[in-house]
Formats: sequence, structure tokens, C-alpha cells
Amino acid sequence: MFDRLPPKVTIYEVAPRDGLQNEKRLIPTDDKVALIDALSDTGLTSIEITSFVNPKWIPQLADAVEVATRIKRVPGVGYSALVPNRQGLESAVKAGMNEVAVFLSASETHNKKNVNKTIADTLKAFEETVPIALAQGLKVRAYVSTVYGCPYEGAVDPARALELCRALRTLGCYQISLGDTIGVANPRQVRDVLSRVLAEIPEPSVAVHFHDTRGTALANILVSVEMGVSTVDSALGGLGGCPYAPGASGNVATEDVVYMLEEMGVTTGVNLDRLIDCSRLASTLVGHEMPSKYYRAAVGARQRAAGRPEPA
Ligand code: HMG
Ligand code: MG
Repeated sequence: MFDRLPPKVTIYEVAPRDGLQNEKRLIPTDDKVALIDALSDTGLTSIEITSFVNPKWIPQLADAVEVATRIKRVPGVGYSALVPNRQGLESAVKAGMNEVAVFLSASETHNKKNVNKTIADTLKAFEETVPIALAQGLKVRAYVSTVYGCPYEGAVDPARALELCRALRTLGCYQISLGDTIGVANPRQVRDVLSRVLAEIPEPSVAVHFHDTRGTALANILVSVEMGVSTVDSALGGLGGCPYAPGASGNVATEDVVYMLEEMGVTTGVNLDRLIDCSRLASTLVGHEMPSKYYRAAVGARQRAAGRPEPA
């Protein structure tokens, strides 16, 4: 057991986008920039910073252009942002992005609620967007959401993920992240979906994106990395959720993933102490505690060491 773990896993940090899109409090642009700059100093090499979507749909990320133009771009760190269409791509390019991510769902109803289009029309819109992005030298990632279950339709056919991966690869997306948008997946389902996908799509082109609504995300990640996946999406502190997926809660916490993998001998290159400092900052900005288990343990340990009582 665990003899097939990859030596190294890349953490794809989504808190500034997936995390902040789901917060009630609107975070000032200066604070978002400070958080992203702090994340750039943790050893992370991929950070999704915002979304160039309709601000009426996601008001929390209405300052995408300002965020993208004001962050410090650290050499060796890749910065990406969601774009749903040509208009989003144009804004992203103007704001200096050199990587973007397109997104669609494996279930019709979530896709319609999230981007106001059928899956087929969304793929048609990508045909206008992705080749233009590639021709301008951008890297394009893709998400398939609701792979393991839909908040509106329930069960999703496990064959859908592979069908959509094929279409997205044909378009030229360098990596496809398979999303458990509402955190319903279990390790057996993950093995089923990934064995279909990895039989056709080479491992570096497949990433996993688990929300931790029901506490199964780390188990699902362990199965994924054992099967050879070496890019794992996660969000600082366990922030996150899709406003168009009722009941979806946070992503798996970056601290928890980094701790588990590093303790198992898998290198992530991420400094846990610096991540905890970032989580503390994020907690102050969003105005609530972080769900991350590792964060709580680390804060408790720091307080014991300083002779202060632990938080309740
Ligand atoms: P629509 O209303 O159908 O768009 O929205 P439209 O083309 O008919 O245009 C209507 C208006 O939107 C126009 O403005 C456009 O200019 C504007 P108006 O003339 O009315 O003033 N518009 C835009 N404005 C700014 N940026 C744009 C843009 N496009 C159109 N790019 C649209 C369609 C896709 C835009 C909308 O549905 C939308 O913005 N959806 C975003 C939803 C979203 O961001 N969801 C969360 C991210 S997905 C997620 O969290 C899942 C993930 O984490 C993986 C997982 O967990 O599984 C990735
Ligand atoms: Mg998500």
C-alpha cells in the first residue's frame, strides 16, 4: 500500500477565487492583493487569483482587473483566473493574465444555473475562446464540475467526465480538473471515474478538485494520488464553494493536504508555517474561523507554546 505515490505533487491553490467567491463579506481589493502576495511566498507554484465573470453573477470578484494588475508576480509562480467566455478572456488578457481556466459541468442543470447555457452551447463558446487564448500564448486549464453528483439532479453518470475530458483535450486545454463541486464523492467512486479517465488521458493532464462538505476529501485525494494524479486543487483554510451549487461548502484545505502528503514523504514544496500565517490573515479578512483541521491544531500549538489559552 502507498508504493505508487508520486514523489512530488503540485498544489493548485484556489482560495483567492473559489474561496472568496463564496464569502458573504466583500473583501477590499487591497486585502485580496495582500493575501495573494503572501500566498506567493509560501512555495506554492500555482494560484488561481480571481474570475473574469459577470460581476452581477459573482459580485465578490468584481475587482478582477484590479487584482490581476496589482499583485506581485513572483517568478516560478503561475497565476490563473476563470474565464467563461470571450468577454472574460479579453479582460483577462488586458489585465496581463498568461493563464486562464474555462469551466463547465457534467450535469445539465448545474451548468445552466452556473453559466446560463447548455453543456453543448458551453462547449461551442469554448471553441471561440480557447483557440484564441492559445493563439495569444496563454495556457488554458479546464474544470469539469459535478463529476460525482449534482445539487439539482443527484447522481451523475461516471462516463460523463471522460467524454468532457476528451472534448476539452481536443480543444487544447493543458489540464482538466475534475470537480466534486458539492463534496459527495467517496473513494470507490473516485477510483471508478479516474480509472476511466487515466486510461485515455495522460496523468499530468488530470487534476482533482474536491470540496469537503462531507469529510471525504482527503480520502479521495489519497486514492487519486495513488492512481498517479500529481496535481491537487485545494484552498487555504478550507475556504470555498460555488454560489450556484446549493449546499456546497469549502474546498479541502491546503494545509491539510500539504500536511498529509509531506508526512507521507510526498514533496509539495509548500511551507506549512507560512501557509498558517496566510490562513490567519484570511480568517481576519473573511471574519470567521477557518475550517482547516491542521490550521486549528497549529494555532492551538502556537498558543500553548506562547502560554496562552487555546481557542474554544
Ligand atoms: P449571461 O447573462 O447569459 O451573459 O451570463 P450574456 O452573454 O447574455 O451577457 C449578459 C451580460 O453579462 C452583458 O452585460 C455582458 O456584458 C455581461 P449587460 O449588457 O447586461 O450589461 N457579461 C460579462 N461581464 C463581465 N465579464 C464577463 C461577461 N460575460 C457576459 N465575462 C455568464 C453568462 C457566463 C457571463 C454568467 O453566467 C457568469 O458570469 N457566470 C459565472 C458563474 C461562476 O463564476 N460560478 C462560480 C465558478 S464555477 C465553480 O465554482 C466550480 C469550480 O470551482 C469547480 C468545482 O468546484 O467543481 C470551478
Ligand atoms: Mg470549486
